[in-house]
Amino acid sequence: MLQRTAIYLLFLSTVFAVNRPPKIYMQPTDREIYYKPGESVEILCIANGIPKPEYIWRRNGVVYNPSGQGDRVVQLPNQGTIVFNKPEDKDEGIFQCFADNGYGISASVKINLREAKLKKFADEPSQTHIVFAGEDLTLPCYPPQSYPPADVYWVIKEPDGRRQDVNFDKRVSMDIEGRLRFTNVLGSDMVGGRAYSCMAVNYFMRDSAIGPEHVVTVFGSTERKLPATELWTSPRYQFFLKGGTLRLKCIFAGNPTPEVHWKKLEGKFPDRAKFKSFGQELQITDVRESDAGQYECMGLNSESTQRATKVFDVRIKAAPFWVEEPQDVEASINQTATFICKADGDPKPNYAWYINGVPLEDRQNKPRIYNNRFYKKDANNITLTNLTLEDHMNIQCNASNQHGYIFSDVYLNVLDWDISSMQIPDKKKIRVA
Ligand SMILES: *[C@@H]1O[C@H](CO)[C@@H](O)[C@H](O)[C@H]1NC(C)=O
Ligand SMILES: *[C@@H]1O[C@H](CO)[C@@H](O)[C@H](O)[C@H]1NC(C)=O
Ligand SMILES: *[C@@H]1O[C@H](CO)[C@@H](O)[C@H](O)[C@H]1NC(C)=O
Ligand SMILES: *[C@@H]1O[C@H](CO)[C@@H](O)[C@H](O)[C@H]1NC(C)=O
Repeated sequence: MLQRTAIYLLFLSTVFAVNRPPKIYMQPTDREIYYKPGESVEILCIANGIPKPEYIWRRNGVVYNPSGQGDRVVQLPNQGTIVFNKPEDKDEGIFQCFADNGYGISASVKINLREAKLKKFADEPSQTHIVFAGEDLTLPCYPPQSYPPADVYWVIKEPDGRRQDVNFDKRVSMDIEGRLRFTNVLGSDMVGGRAYSCMAVNYFMRDSAIGPEHVVTVFGSTERKLPATELWTSPRYQFFLKGGTLRLKCIFAGNPTPEVHWKKLEGKFPDRAKFKSFGQELQITDVRESDAGQYECMGLNSESTQRATKVFDVRIKAAPFWVEEPQDVEASINQTATFICKADGDPKPNYAWYINGVPLEDRQNKPRIYNNRFYKKDANNITLTNLTLEDHMNIQCNASNQHGYIFSDVYLNVLDWDISSMQIPDKKKIRVA
Protein backbone atom coordinates (compact mmCIF):
# COMPACT_ATOMS: atom_id res chain seq x y z
CA MET A 1 0.00 0.00 0.00
CA LEU A 2 2.72 2.41 1.04
CA GLN A 3 4.69 1.51 -2.05
CA ARG A 4 1.69 2.11 -4.29
CA THR A 5 1.11 5.52 -2.72
CA ALA A 6 4.73 6.37 -3.31
CA ILE A 7 4.48 5.42 -6.96
CA TYR A 8 1.28 7.41 -7.30
CA LEU A 9 2.91 10.47 -5.74
CA LEU A 10 5.86 10.06 -8.01
CA PHE A 11 3.47 9.97 -10.95
CA LEU A 12 1.75 13.17 -9.79
CA SER A 13 4.95 15.04 -9.19
CA THR A 14 6.22 14.09 -12.62
CA VAL A 15 3.05 15.27 -14.25
CA PHE A 16 2.70 18.53 -12.41
CA ALA A 17 6.30 19.35 -11.72
CA VAL A 18 7.63 19.06 -15.23
CA ASN A 19 11.36 19.49 -15.50
CA ARG A 20 12.33 23.00 -16.34
CA PRO A 21 15.77 24.45 -17.13
CA PRO A 22 17.12 26.86 -14.53
CA LYS A 23 16.72 30.60 -14.54
CA ILE A 24 18.66 33.11 -12.50
CA TYR A 25 15.95 35.54 -11.43
CA MET A 26 17.85 37.58 -8.88
CA GLN A 27 21.24 39.10 -9.51
CA PRO A 28 22.82 42.48 -8.76
CA THR A 29 21.38 45.43 -10.66
CA ASP A 30 24.76 47.19 -10.62
CA ARG A 31 27.54 45.56 -12.56
CA GLU A 32 30.11 47.14 -10.30
CA ILE A 33 30.03 46.35 -6.60
CA TYR A 34 32.37 48.13 -4.22
CA TYR A 35 33.41 46.99 -0.77
CA LYS A 36 35.26 48.57 2.08
CA PRO A 37 38.13 46.45 3.35
CA GLY A 38 36.86 44.37 6.26
CA GLU A 39 33.15 45.20 5.72
CA SER A 40 31.06 42.33 4.42
CA VAL A 41 29.80 42.40 0.85
CA GLU A 42 27.62 39.97 -1.09
CA ILE A 43 27.00 39.08 -4.70
CA LEU A 44 23.40 38.06 -5.19
CA CYS A 45 22.47 35.03 -7.30
CA ILE A 46 19.21 33.10 -6.97
CA ALA A 47 17.77 30.79 -9.58
CA ASN A 48 14.72 28.59 -9.94
CA GLY A 49 14.13 25.53 -12.10
CA ILE A 50 12.99 21.94 -11.65
CA PRO A 51 14.86 20.19 -10.19
CA LYS A 52 16.50 22.84 -8.02
CA PRO A 53 19.73 24.09 -9.55
CA GLU A 54 23.21 23.98 -8.15
CA TYR A 55 25.47 26.98 -8.46
CA ILE A 56 28.87 27.42 -9.98
CA TRP A 57 30.89 30.62 -9.77
CA ARG A 58 33.62 31.88 -12.03
CA ARG A 59 36.08 34.58 -11.10
CA ASN A 60 38.05 36.15 -13.95
CA GLY A 61 36.82 33.26 -16.10
CA VAL A 62 38.16 30.52 -13.82
CA VAL A 63 35.95 28.24 -11.68
CA TYR A 64 35.82 29.73 -8.20
CA ASN A 65 35.02 27.68 -5.14
CA PRO A 66 33.49 29.91 -2.43
CA SER A 67 33.99 27.26 0.25
CA GLY A 68 37.68 27.03 -0.61
CA GLN A 69 38.37 30.47 0.91
CA GLY A 70 38.39 29.51 4.57
CA ASP A 71 35.48 31.07 6.47
CA ARG A 72 35.97 34.43 4.81
CA VAL A 73 33.52 33.56 2.03
CA VAL A 74 30.22 31.71 2.44
CA GLN A 75 27.56 30.70 -0.02
CA LEU A 76 24.09 31.16 1.44
CA PRO A 77 22.01 27.96 1.80
CA ASN A 78 19.70 27.21 -1.15
CA GLN A 79 21.09 30.16 -3.11
CA GLY A 80 24.08 31.00 -5.18
CA THR A 81 24.62 34.28 -3.30
CA ILE A 82 28.14 34.55 -1.94
CA VAL A 83 29.04 36.68 1.04
CA PHE A 84 32.56 37.93 1.70
CA ASN A 85 32.69 38.41 5.46
CA LYS A 86 36.03 40.16 5.58
CA PRO A 87 36.91 41.06 2.01
CA GLU A 88 40.54 41.78 1.18
CA ASP A 89 42.37 43.24 -1.82
CA LYS A 90 42.74 39.80 -3.33
CA ASP A 91 38.95 39.30 -3.54
CA GLU A 92 38.66 41.79 -6.37
CA GLY A 93 37.66 40.29 -9.70
CA ILE A 94 34.98 39.74 -12.28
CA PHE A 95 32.43 37.28 -10.97
CA GLN A 96 29.80 35.36 -12.87
CA CYS A 97 27.22 33.00 -11.41
CA PHE A 98 25.86 29.92 -13.17
CA ALA A 99 22.92 27.74 -12.12
CA ASP A 100 22.85 24.14 -13.37
CA ASN A 101 20.06 21.61 -12.84
CA GLY A 102 20.95 19.07 -15.50
CA TYR A 103 18.43 20.58 -17.95
CA GLY A 104 20.44 23.65 -18.76
CA ILE A 105 22.84 26.18 -17.30
CA SER A 106 21.64 29.72 -16.64
CA ALA A 107 24.24 32.50 -16.54
CA SER A 108 24.26 35.87 -14.76
CA VAL A 109 25.86 39.05 -16.01
CA LYS A 110 29.45 39.71 -14.99
CA ILE A 111 29.93 41.59 -11.76
CA ASN A 112 33.06 43.61 -11.17
CA LEU A 113 33.83 43.37 -7.46
CA ARG A 114 36.17 46.18 -6.46
CA GLU A 115 37.70 47.42 -3.30
CA ALA A 116 36.80 51.05 -2.59
CA LYS A 117 39.84 53.27 -2.27
CA LEU A 118 40.69 56.86 -1.62
CA LYS A 119 44.38 57.65 -1.85
CA LYS A 120 45.96 60.73 -0.35
CA PHE A 121 46.83 63.84 -2.32
CA ALA A 122 50.47 64.11 -3.34
CA ASP A 123 52.43 65.94 -0.65
CA GLU A 124 53.07 69.43 -1.97
CA PRO A 125 54.19 72.57 -0.17
CA SER A 126 51.82 75.46 0.22
CA GLN A 127 51.74 77.65 -2.91
CA THR A 128 51.26 81.40 -3.07
CA HIS A 129 49.55 82.93 -6.10
CA ILE A 130 50.26 86.58 -6.74
CA VAL A 131 47.78 88.37 -8.98
CA PHE A 132 46.57 91.87 -9.84
CA ALA A 133 43.08 92.86 -8.84
CA GLY A 134 40.73 92.33 -11.78
CA GLU A 135 42.83 89.60 -13.41
CA ASP A 136 41.80 85.97 -13.58
CA LEU A 137 43.25 83.20 -11.45
CA THR A 138 43.18 79.41 -11.58
CA LEU A 139 43.95 77.17 -8.62
CA PRO A 140 44.86 73.64 -9.72
CA CYS A 141 43.57 70.43 -8.19
CA TYR A 142 44.95 66.94 -8.85
CA PRO A 143 42.56 64.65 -6.99
CA PRO A 144 44.01 61.32 -5.90
CA GLN A 145 42.86 57.93 -7.18
CA SER A 146 39.42 57.05 -5.87
CA TYR A 147 37.00 54.13 -6.35
CA PRO A 148 34.19 54.93 -6.79
CA PRO A 149 35.23 58.31 -8.24
CA ALA A 150 35.42 61.13 -5.68
CA ASP A 151 33.53 64.40 -5.76
CA VAL A 152 35.72 67.50 -5.69
CA TYR A 153 35.06 70.56 -3.52
CA TRP A 154 36.98 73.70 -2.62
CA VAL A 155 37.31 74.84 0.96
CA ILE A 156 38.99 77.58 2.93
CA LYS A 157 41.00 76.30 5.87
CA GLU A 158 40.30 78.09 9.11
CA PRO A 159 43.15 78.58 11.60
CA ASP A 160 41.39 76.20 14.03
CA GLY A 161 41.45 73.43 11.40
CA ARG A 162 37.80 73.74 10.40
CA ARG A 163 36.92 74.02 6.76
CA GLN A 164 34.51 76.36 5.14
CA ASP A 165 33.10 75.77 1.67
CA VAL A 166 34.04 78.24 -1.04
CA ASN A 167 30.83 79.86 -2.18
CA PHE A 168 30.48 79.77 -5.92
CA ASP A 169 28.92 82.52 -7.93
CA LYS A 170 29.35 83.70 -11.48
CA ARG A 171 32.73 85.20 -10.60
CA VAL A 172 34.19 82.20 -8.73
CA SER A 173 33.44 78.70 -9.94
CA MET A 174 34.88 75.28 -10.55
CA ASP A 175 35.56 73.84 -13.97
CA ILE A 176 34.47 70.28 -14.82
CA GLU A 177 37.99 69.00 -14.06
CA GLY A 178 37.94 70.39 -10.51
CA ARG A 179 40.08 73.55 -10.77
CA LEU A 180 38.96 76.70 -8.99
CA ARG A 181 38.47 79.60 -11.40
CA PHE A 182 38.29 83.31 -10.56
CA THR A 183 37.07 85.26 -13.58
CA ASN A 184 38.48 88.36 -11.86
CA VAL A 185 40.16 88.59 -8.50
CA LEU A 186 39.08 90.93 -5.70
CA GLY A 187 41.03 91.93 -2.61
CA SER A 188 38.56 89.91 -0.54
CA ASP A 189 39.72 86.72 -2.28
CA MET A 190 42.77 86.82 0.01
CA VAL A 191 40.36 85.67 2.74
CA GLY A 192 42.64 87.16 5.37
CA GLY A 193 45.62 85.05 4.32
CA ARG A 194 43.85 81.75 4.90
CA ALA A 195 44.50 78.93 2.44
CA TYR A 196 42.31 77.42 -0.24
CA SER A 197 42.41 73.64 -0.67
CA CYS A 198 40.54 71.25 -2.86
CA MET A 199 38.99 68.24 -1.25
CA ALA A 200 38.13 64.83 -2.65
CA VAL A 201 35.12 63.14 -1.05
CA ASN A 202 34.44 59.45 -1.54
CA TYR A 203 30.85 59.15 -0.30
CA PHE A 204 30.84 55.37 -0.48
CA MET A 205 33.77 55.20 1.94
CA ARG A 206 32.52 58.16 3.99
CA ASP A 207 36.04 59.47 3.68
CA SER A 208 37.75 62.52 2.29
CA ALA A 209 41.23 63.71 1.42
CA ILE A 210 42.46 67.27 1.46
CA GLY A 211 44.79 68.78 -1.12
CA PRO A 212 47.74 71.15 -0.81
CA GLU A 213 47.24 74.74 0.34
CA HIS A 214 46.94 77.69 -1.99
CA VAL A 215 47.34 81.19 -0.66
CA VAL A 216 46.17 84.13 -2.78
CA THR A 217 47.88 87.52 -2.69
CA VAL A 218 46.15 90.35 -4.57
CA PHE A 219 48.02 93.42 -5.72
CA GLY A 220 46.65 96.77 -6.76
CA SER A 221 44.10 98.98 -5.12
CA THR A 222 42.04 99.46 -8.26
CA GLU A 223 40.81 96.51 -10.25
CA ARG A 224 41.90 96.22 -13.83
CA LYS A 225 39.06 96.33 -16.32
CA LEU A 226 39.35 93.49 -18.83
CA PRO A 227 37.16 92.23 -21.68
CA ALA A 228 35.68 88.73 -21.67
CA THR A 229 38.12 86.02 -22.80
CA GLU A 230 37.93 82.27 -22.60
CA LEU A 231 39.30 80.92 -19.30
CA TRP A 232 38.13 77.33 -19.37
CA THR A 233 35.66 75.56 -21.64
CA SER A 234 34.62 71.95 -22.20
CA PRO A 235 36.35 70.25 -25.15
CA ARG A 236 34.92 71.17 -28.56
CA TYR A 237 34.19 67.63 -29.80
CA GLN A 238 32.17 65.58 -27.40
CA PHE A 239 29.75 62.73 -27.35
CA PHE A 240 27.12 61.90 -24.78
CA LEU A 241 25.21 58.68 -24.24
CA LYS A 242 21.52 58.41 -24.96
CA GLY A 243 19.64 58.57 -21.67
CA GLY A 244 22.58 60.29 -19.94
CA THR A 245 23.21 63.96 -19.15
CA LEU A 246 24.87 66.42 -21.51
CA ARG A 247 27.11 68.89 -19.67
CA LEU A 248 28.93 71.76 -21.32
CA LYS A 249 30.62 74.54 -19.40
CA CYS A 250 32.21 77.87 -20.30
CA ILE A 251 34.07 80.06 -17.87
CA PHE A 252 35.19 83.45 -19.16
CA ALA A 253 37.77 85.70 -17.57
CA GLY A 254 37.03 89.42 -17.52
CA ASN A 255 36.17 92.33 -15.31
CA PRO A 256 33.33 93.15 -14.84
CA THR A 257 32.34 89.50 -14.54
CA PRO A 258 31.12 88.39 -17.98
CA GLU A 259 27.59 87.16 -18.57
CA VAL A 260 27.42 83.76 -20.27
CA HIS A 261 24.78 82.98 -22.90
CA TRP A 262 24.03 79.75 -24.74
CA LYS A 263 22.70 78.98 -28.18
CA LYS A 264 21.84 75.83 -30.07
CA LEU A 265 23.01 76.71 -33.56
CA GLU A 266 20.22 74.88 -35.33
CA GLY A 267 16.90 74.44 -33.58
CA LYS A 268 15.81 75.20 -30.05
CA PHE A 269 16.78 73.93 -26.62
CA PRO A 270 14.55 71.06 -25.48
CA ASP A 271 12.52 71.37 -22.26
CA ARG A 272 15.10 69.06 -20.71
CA ALA A 273 17.73 71.83 -20.90
CA LYS A 274 18.77 73.69 -17.76
CA PHE A 275 21.31 76.42 -17.18
CA LYS A 276 23.39 75.83 -14.08
CA SER A 277 26.29 77.43 -12.30
CA PHE A 278 25.07 81.00 -12.87
CA GLY A 279 24.61 80.41 -16.57
CA GLN A 280 28.08 78.96 -17.17
CA GLU A 281 26.85 75.43 -17.58
CA LEU A 282 24.35 73.88 -19.96
CA GLN A 283 22.80 70.61 -18.83
CA ILE A 284 20.42 68.46 -20.84
CA THR A 285 19.05 65.41 -19.07
CA ASP A 286 17.77 62.20 -20.66
CA VAL A 287 19.80 62.87 -23.81
CA ARG A 288 18.25 61.92 -27.16
CA GLU A 289 19.50 61.71 -30.75
CA SER A 290 17.85 65.06 -31.45
CA ASP A 291 20.27 66.72 -29.02
CA ALA A 292 23.17 66.17 -31.42
CA GLY A 293 24.47 69.25 -33.20
CA GLN A 294 26.33 72.46 -32.54
CA TYR A 295 26.06 74.53 -29.39
CA GLU A 296 27.67 77.84 -28.67
CA CYS A 297 28.45 79.71 -25.51
CA MET A 298 29.40 83.35 -25.47
CA GLY A 299 30.82 85.65 -22.85
CA LEU A 300 30.28 89.36 -22.80
CA ASN A 301 30.94 92.29 -20.47
CA SER A 302 30.98 96.06 -20.81
CA GLU A 303 34.72 96.04 -21.72
CA SER A 304 34.20 93.67 -24.66
CA THR A 305 34.26 95.08 -28.17
CA GLN A 306 33.14 91.70 -29.43
CA ARG A 307 31.79 88.63 -27.67
CA ALA A 308 34.06 85.73 -26.85
CA THR A 309 32.54 82.54 -28.23
CA LYS A 310 33.14 78.84 -28.27
CA VAL A 311 31.38 76.29 -30.43
CA PHE A 312 30.78 72.66 -29.44
CA ASP A 313 30.13 69.75 -31.77
CA VAL A 314 27.99 67.25 -29.90
CA ARG A 315 27.34 63.71 -31.04
CA ILE A 316 25.01 61.25 -29.39
CA LYS A 317 26.01 57.62 -28.99
CA ALA A 318 24.05 54.82 -27.40
CA ALA A 319 24.84 51.77 -25.32
CA PRO A 320 22.92 48.75 -26.68
CA PHE A 321 19.20 48.58 -25.92
CA TRP A 322 16.63 45.92 -26.74
CA VAL A 323 14.58 45.91 -29.89
CA GLU A 324 13.52 42.31 -29.39
CA GLU A 325 14.64 40.35 -26.38
CA PRO A 326 14.78 36.54 -26.52
CA GLN A 327 11.92 34.72 -24.76
CA ASP A 328 11.73 31.37 -22.97
CA VAL A 329 10.28 28.67 -25.19
CA GLU A 330 8.31 25.66 -24.03
CA ALA A 331 7.64 23.40 -26.99
CA SER A 332 6.61 19.86 -27.80
CA ILE A 333 8.47 17.17 -29.65
CA ASN A 334 8.86 17.84 -33.40
CA GLN A 335 8.03 21.53 -33.02
CA THR A 336 10.31 24.43 -33.94
CA ALA A 337 11.75 26.97 -31.49
CA THR A 338 13.11 30.37 -32.50
CA PHE A 339 15.12 32.76 -30.36
CA ILE A 340 15.43 36.33 -31.55
CA CYS A 341 18.01 38.66 -30.02
CA LYS A 342 17.82 42.11 -31.57
CA ALA A 343 19.28 45.27 -30.15
CA ASP A 344 20.20 48.68 -31.39
CA GLY A 345 22.82 51.18 -30.35
CA ASP A 346 25.44 53.53 -31.74
CA PRO A 347 27.78 52.04 -32.80
CA LYS A 348 25.65 49.04 -33.90
CA PRO A 349 25.94 46.21 -31.39
CA ASN A 350 27.80 42.97 -31.93
CA TYR A 351 26.15 39.73 -30.86
CA ALA A 352 27.56 36.78 -28.99
CA TRP A 353 25.44 33.67 -28.32
CA TYR A 354 26.06 31.06 -25.69
CA ILE A 355 24.53 27.65 -25.02
CA ASN A 356 24.53 26.79 -21.33
CA GLY A 357 27.06 29.57 -20.74
CA VAL A 358 29.53 28.30 -23.36
CA PRO A 359 30.17 30.44 -26.44
CA LEU A 360 28.43 29.02 -29.47
CA GLU A 361 31.68 28.89 -31.42
CA ASP A 362 33.11 26.47 -28.86
CA ARG A 363 30.13 24.21 -29.50
CA GLN A 364 30.55 23.68 -33.20
CA ASN A 365 31.77 20.14 -32.86
CA LYS A 366 29.02 19.10 -30.53
CA PRO A 367 26.47 17.30 -32.68
CA ARG A 368 23.63 18.08 -30.27
CA ILE A 369 23.96 21.77 -31.03
CA TYR A 370 25.42 21.91 -34.50
CA ASN A 371 23.34 19.37 -36.33
CA ASN A 372 20.97 19.69 -39.24
CA ARG A 373 18.21 20.76 -36.87
CA PHE A 374 20.05 23.82 -35.62
CA TYR A 375 20.11 27.00 -37.68
CA LYS A 376 21.73 30.32 -37.08
CA LYS A 377 20.05 32.23 -39.84
CA ASP A 378 21.77 35.50 -39.01
CA ALA A 379 23.33 37.23 -36.02
CA ASN A 380 19.88 37.68 -34.42
CA ASN A 381 18.13 34.38 -34.97
CA ILE A 382 18.72 30.90 -33.62
CA THR A 383 16.19 28.28 -34.64
CA LEU A 384 15.96 24.63 -33.66
CA THR A 385 13.64 22.35 -35.62
CA ASN A 386 12.24 18.83 -35.08
CA LEU A 387 12.75 19.19 -31.34
CA THR A 388 13.56 16.16 -29.26
CA LEU A 389 13.31 15.68 -25.51
CA GLU A 390 17.06 16.13 -25.26
CA ASP A 391 16.96 19.69 -26.63
CA HIS A 392 16.35 21.40 -23.28
CA MET A 393 18.99 24.09 -22.75
CA ASN A 394 19.68 27.68 -21.75
CA ILE A 395 20.55 30.14 -24.45
CA GLN A 396 22.33 33.40 -23.69
CA CYS A 397 22.69 36.37 -25.96
CA ASN A 398 25.04 39.32 -25.39
CA ALA A 399 24.59 42.46 -27.50
CA SER A 400 27.51 44.81 -26.94
CA ASN A 401 29.30 47.86 -28.21
CA GLN A 402 32.06 49.97 -26.68
CA HIS A 403 29.52 51.68 -24.40
CA GLY A 404 28.18 48.55 -22.71
CA TYR A 405 26.22 45.38 -23.14
CA ILE A 406 22.80 43.87 -22.56
CA PHE A 407 22.51 40.24 -21.71
CA SER A 408 19.63 37.82 -21.88
CA ASP A 409 19.35 34.30 -20.52
CA VAL A 410 16.39 32.21 -21.67
CA TYR A 411 15.63 28.53 -21.88
CA LEU A 412 14.23 25.99 -24.26
CA ASN A 413 12.17 23.30 -22.61
CA VAL A 414 10.82 20.41 -24.64
CA LEU A 415 7.82 18.74 -23.08
CA ASP A 416 6.69 15.26 -23.88
CA TRP A 417 3.09 16.16 -24.44
CA ASP A 418 1.12 18.86 -26.08
CA ILE A 419 0.93 21.67 -23.51
CA SER A 420 -1.65 23.55 -25.51
CA SER A 421 -4.27 20.85 -24.96
CA MET A 422 -2.91 19.92 -21.50
CA GLN A 423 -3.21 16.19 -22.25
CA ILE A 424 -2.00 13.93 -19.52
CA PRO A 425 0.79 11.87 -21.07
CA ASP A 426 0.92 8.11 -21.40
CA LYS A 427 2.41 6.49 -18.40
CA LYS A 428 5.23 5.01 -20.44
CA LYS A 429 6.32 8.42 -21.69
CA ILE A 430 6.77 9.87 -18.23
CA ARG A 431 10.37 10.60 -17.43
CA VAL A 432 11.33 10.39 -13.84
CA ALA A 433 13.68 13.15 -12.82
C1 LIG B 1 29.26 40.74 -23.23
O1 LIG B 1 30.18 41.17 -24.22
C2 LIG B 1 31.06 42.22 -23.81
C3 LIG B 1 31.89 42.62 -25.00
O2 LIG B 1 32.60 41.54 -25.50
C4 LIG B 1 31.91 41.72 -22.64
O3 LIG B 1 32.74 42.76 -22.19
C5 LIG B 1 30.99 41.27 -21.52
O4 LIG B 1 31.77 40.73 -20.47
C6 LIG B 1 30.03 40.21 -22.01
N1 LIG B 1 29.10 39.87 -20.93
C7 LIG B 1 28.84 38.63 -20.55
C8 LIG B 1 27.89 38.44 -19.43
O5 LIG B 1 29.36 37.66 -21.08
C1 LIG C 1 7.81 13.32 -34.60
O1 LIG C 1 8.04 13.19 -35.98
C2 LIG C 1 8.42 11.89 -36.36
C3 LIG C 1 8.79 11.91 -37.85
O2 LIG C 1 8.06 12.85 -38.56
C4 LIG C 1 7.24 10.93 -36.07
O3 LIG C 1 7.61 9.61 -36.39
C5 LIG C 1 6.90 11.01 -34.59
O4 LIG C 1 5.74 10.23 -34.31
C6 LIG C 1 6.65 12.45 -34.16
N1 LIG C 1 6.49 12.46 -32.73
C7 LIG C 1 5.53 13.14 -32.10
C8 LIG C 1 5.47 13.06 -30.62
O5 LIG C 1 4.73 13.87 -32.72
C1 LIG D 1 14.51 32.73 -37.98
O1 LIG D 1 15.12 31.69 -38.72
C2 LIG D 1 14.22 30.68 -39.14
C3 LIG D 1 15.00 29.54 -39.76
O2 LIG D 1 15.97 29.95 -40.67
C4 LIG D 1 13.17 31.26 -40.08
O3 LIG D 1 12.25 30.28 -40.45
C5 LIG D 1 12.46 32.39 -39.34
O4 LIG D 1 11.56 33.03 -40.20
C6 LIG D 1 13.45 33.40 -38.80
N1 LIG D 1 12.72 34.38 -38.00
C7 LIG D 1 13.01 35.68 -38.02
C8 LIG D 1 12.13 36.57 -37.19
O5 LIG D 1 13.96 36.13 -38.63
C1 LIG E 1 11.92 17.43 -39.62
O1 LIG E 1 10.56 17.01 -39.74
C2 LIG E 1 10.05 17.13 -41.03
C3 LIG E 1 8.59 16.71 -41.02
O2 LIG E 1 7.96 17.09 -39.85
C4 LIG E 1 10.83 16.25 -41.99
O3 LIG E 1 10.36 16.45 -43.31
C5 LIG E 1 12.30 16.63 -41.93
O4 LIG E 1 13.05 15.74 -42.71
C6 LIG E 1 12.82 16.58 -40.50
N1 LIG E 1 14.17 17.09 -40.47
C7 LIG E 1 15.13 16.54 -39.77
C8 LIG E 1 16.45 17.21 -39.85
O5 LIG E 1 14.96 15.54 -39.10
